[in-house]
Amino acid sequence: MVNRALKLGIFGYGCVGQGLHDVLISSKGMNATIAKICVKDKTKKRRISMDHFTYDKYDILNDPEINLVVELIDDDKEALTIVKAAMERGKNVVTANKKMVAENLKELVKLQEQTKTSFLYEASTCGSIPIIRNLEEYYDNELLYSVRGIFNGSSNYILSNMHNDDKKYEDALLKAQELGFAETEPALDVEGVDAKYKLVIITLHAYGMFIDPDQVFHYGISNISKHDIRYAREKGYKIKLVPYVGKLNKSTITLYVLPRFIPPEKYLYNVDYEYNGVIAEAAFSDKQFFYGKGAGGHPTGSAVLSDISACTYDYKYEYKKKHHNRVKNYSTNIDIEIYFRYHDPAILRKFPFKSISEQYFAKEFNYLIGSINLNDLMKLREEINKLNVFIVNTGRKSGKINL
Ligand SMILES: NC(=O)c1ccc[n+]([C@@H]2O[C@H](COP(=O)([O-])OP(=O)(O)OC[C@H]3O[C@@H](n4cnc5c(N)ncnc54)[C@H](OP(=O)(O)O)[C@@H]3O)[C@@H](O)[C@H]2O)c1
Repeated sequence: MVNRALKLGIFGYGCVGQGLHDVLISSKGMNATIAKICVKDKTKKRRISMDHFTYDKYDILNDPEINLVVELIDDDKEALTIVKAAMERGKNVVTANKKMVAENLKELVKLQEQTKTSFLYEASTCGSIPIIRNLEEYYDNELLYSVRGIFNGSSNYILSNMHNDDKKYEDALLKAQELGFAETEPALDVEGVDAKYKLVIITLHAYGMFIDPDQVFHYGISNISKHDIRYAREKGYKIKLVPYVGKLNKSTITLYVLPRFIPPEKYLYNVDYEYNGVIAEAAFSDKQFFYGKGAGGHPTGSAVLSDISACTYDYKYEYKKKHHNRVKNYSTNIDIEIYFRYHDPAILRKFPFKSISEQYFAKEFNYLIGSINLNDLMKLREEINKLNVFIVNTGRKSGKINL
């Protein structure tokens, strides 16, 4: 097997960059040395000698000795420029930036194919859980029914704090930020956007389809209230933010990100705090469950290290499902049963429920359980976060009483 010596140029020395540095110096037997680390802020004090750092990206990009660029910055536009420039110069690339990867997946995969470089991004989805490599290699020829789970450590941390520890939403979010689980822009986590980026990346490796993130419905936890937590508790459920991709028929898949009620007997029930969990459901292997830390410097750094290690033997994603070309269509024409908490009954005019199976009215809040088409939720996606409502997928088949 090839054991190529790696000379690394690292971009970013924040939560993940420092985590990777710790992991790299403790891992023995890796044929890799750090040549330079590029950062932005010249006034910041660093944990290691300033000799390691540069503020000029071309010190890395134009160094012919550097054969692997590790991109760990929090600016997706600049990250895209760096990643493209590196591949165009024949350098392999490892990145943790899901926004940059998900929004430019088609272009980046094409560039990777043209330049014959390795372009690896395991750390971009579900932190330390090796889901992309498993979808590529293990589920190579399996008939995958669905992939779902908890992909965002920050929102899961908030939900666990609210459910298990009675914390307020704002306090839990602050704690997640302090611990380095939250994105620089917290809306990405709590509104389900980060989970959606990961879902789009997973979809390419599970089904071979490039899906534009803008075409995927996402709804997060930013509107959750104590009433919703109380409702879930009374029923014995937890609320989790669950992205889903699954087959509707042989050649059609659907995708969405929604909070979901999880009963105690389900795998995801005990996936708490910054942990992530992924369930792959397939025809022959049945249900498989992956569990691990989804955020934080060291867990994410360890996923980056695994990709760096893969570059020593020239590993590349082969995008096998894309070449199989079995799944060809993406549809959002499905009915979903939801718990819908609202204040003003007039809001119901905006939501064309197909059926309602349960309704509850109280002074402080109202809720109903009803079935709605995902296309109708898609139409409301620009305004849905601003409305005084909260939506949870019940996880059951649609309601019974037709209106
Ligand atoms: N945190 C997590 O748990 C986690 C998990 C999975 C994936 N990720 C992804 O990993 C990436 C990094 O996240 P993070 O949490 O480590 O961010 P972070 O703590 O905010 O650190 C960002 C780093 O990027 C550097 N930087 C920003 N713009 C730059 C530029 N133009 N050129 C060079 N360096 C630049 C910053 O430099 P200064 O130090 O000079 O400010 C800083 O070192 C993001 O894409 C994030 O989505 C994070």
